[in-house]
Amino acid sequence: MSAVPNSPRIPAPVWVKNPKLIAWVSEIAALTKPDNVYWCDGSQEEYDRLCAQMVAQGTMKKLNSAKRPNSFLALSDPSDVARVEDRTFICSEKKEDAGPTNNWMEPAEMRTTLHDLFDGCMRGRTLYVVPFSMGPLGSHISQIGIELSDSPYVAVNMRIMTRMGKAVYDVLGAHGEFVPCVHSVGKPLAAGEKDVAWPCNATKYIVHYPETREIWSFGSGYGGNALLGKKCFSLRIASTMGRDQGWLAEHMLILGVENPQGKKHYVAAAFPSACGKTNFAMLIPPKGFEGWKVTTIGDDIAWIKPGPDGRLYAINPEAGYFGVAPGTSEKTNFNAMATLKENVIFTNVALADDGDIWWEGMTKEVPAHLTDWQGKDWTPEIGKETGRKAAHPNARFTAAASQCPSVDPAWQNPAGVPISAFIFGGRRSTTVPLVTEARSWTEGVYMAATMGSETTAAQAGATGIVRRDPFAMLPFCGYNMSDYFAHWLNIGRRIETSGQKLPGIFCVNWFRTDADGKFVWPGFGENMRVLKWMLDRIEGQAGGVEHIFGVTPRYEDLSWNGSDFSQADFDKITSIEAAAWKKELELHAELFKQLEYHLPAELGMVKSQLEKRLAA
Ligand code: OXD
Ligand code: MN
Repeated sequence: MSAVPNSPRIPAPVWVKNPKLIAWVSEIAALTKPDNVYWCDGSQEEYDRLCAQMVAQGTMKKLNSAKRPNSFLALSDPSDVARVEDRTFICSEKKEDAGPTNNWMEPAEMRTTLHDLFDGCMRGRTLYVVPFSMGPLGSHISQIGIELSDSPYVAVNMRIMTRMGKAVYDVLGAHGEFVPCVHSVGKPLAAGEKDVAWPCNATKYIVHYPETREIWSFGSGYGGNALLGKKCFSLRIASTMGRDQGWLAEHMLILGVENPQGKKHYVAAAFPSACGKTNFAMLIPPKGFEGWKVTTIGDDIAWIKPGPDGRLYAINPEAGYFGVAPGTSEKTNFNAMATLKENVIFTNVALADDGDIWWEGMTKEVPAHLTDWQGKDWTPEIGKETGRKAAHPNARFTAAASQCPSVDPAWQNPAGVPISAFIFGGRRSTTVPLVTEARSWTEGVYMAATMGSETTAAQAGATGIVRRDPFAMLPFCGYNMSDYFAHWLNIGRRIETSGQKLPGIFCVNWFRTDADGKFVWPGFGENMRVLKWMLDRIEGQAGGVEHIFGVTPRYEDLSWNGSDFSQADFDKITSIEAAAWKKELELHAELFKQLEYHLPAELGMVKSQLEKRLAA
């Protein structure tokens, strides 16, 4: 896009050699009119300086260095705490290409709207030029992006979440391609106006142009709205790249499992936001699984490409974790807590009186006094009386993957790791059993396509409502969802043609509740039992029973070494109730009606077979 044609060239450091990039930065600067343009080099010195500047400005607090070295706490504006899906747009040329699950606006109309909003929006601020690579620098799978942002908070978070800095320009060279990402908090400052701690704007736009591969974000400084390498690039734009180039960009963790004999598999698993992907990716095998090892490649996003041998290989395009803090503890995720010992940016957690942080579920004992995420006094009594949480339910930590004790030795391997299985999981208190194996690739695609999940705090809006979240990609697919299903079916056909074994596809649900609303399955490390069953199935070494929509284990098919989980409880979370499934299939029908345009016929066929089996 030409923001301001023929704008005067702004000076760039000698290490920036790409004329197209310099011209684009000049155009955006002419449009947004910042006081300064600063080219980030990604150095530690720069990171420290920007953090110190934000501490002085009130955006961040430095935590007690003895407790949490080199770590900071940022408290956002109470209105800017989560991704804003209703303000997220896919502006493809044709509305059908965005599909019925995305907000769409005609690109020309959106460009006019954004032009007006961005005109002068950085007045009184500095424009940071943030160069980043998604994936290891220079890997043929990686992609380069440049984010122009008026938020130093974005610049420092991007340094943790991506490979950010000067070295990106070496890879980019004079003629390399990059995805242009423009971000503004949308709060220009008048001369002499004092800034607020967390500038943002009530008007928000998170916009993607898939054909020209551009991202524009206005009005929010938070997470996925502002760190544009993450959801905007690595999922929405990358999914369209994958469609065009024959690969997959997925909302998936990637983990390695090694058995005591040294046999290793990698699996990729898709769960909606805030459903435990980080915990699963960093799982510690439970009692009874001595000698087993689980290692982490990534906790949120996977780029998956067919290798020369026809198998699928995955990389994690990110370099850090932007994880949900509440509920994270030494018990639920020991490795995450170890990752968070130092060099962390916390956002919207509570501040303890000793200068460290706290969130709900972090320790059994609740501190007697805290400063909550809104900067207010908080005690357990106040919490009880008002229902106010000390940390926002979507409070986050930003930490480098290299700090994670379970990080896989191959996590930076530019060739990626081979994927043996895909796992899809929703948050369902009823209906969906603990684990089901698809009998075919098509049946697996059907399971993933019709996945439902109860909403969480990761997205603005009501929580706990079941919505269809195909492949956990509902808010992240950059094109028409039915075309995305067809792309998955095609990838399967391609693997089959290459003569390779197709990865297994499994559907899991850790979240079934009992009559009192309590989770029945203990979750966390115990998920290893389910993981082992899946890998045994792939190896042809585990039993299971066929039912209406796949294969599930009997109690005796899982290993219960070191566990006292009873058959009765197992039955509760694996039962398949015909009445519930009849209702569920009505919801699948509703989804398919919504996605009618280009819906692959194969999925309709799987549904008819399901209905027949259910009727029988
Ligand atoms: C995330 C999300 O931040 O999915 O990972 O919301
Ligand atoms: Mn996510």
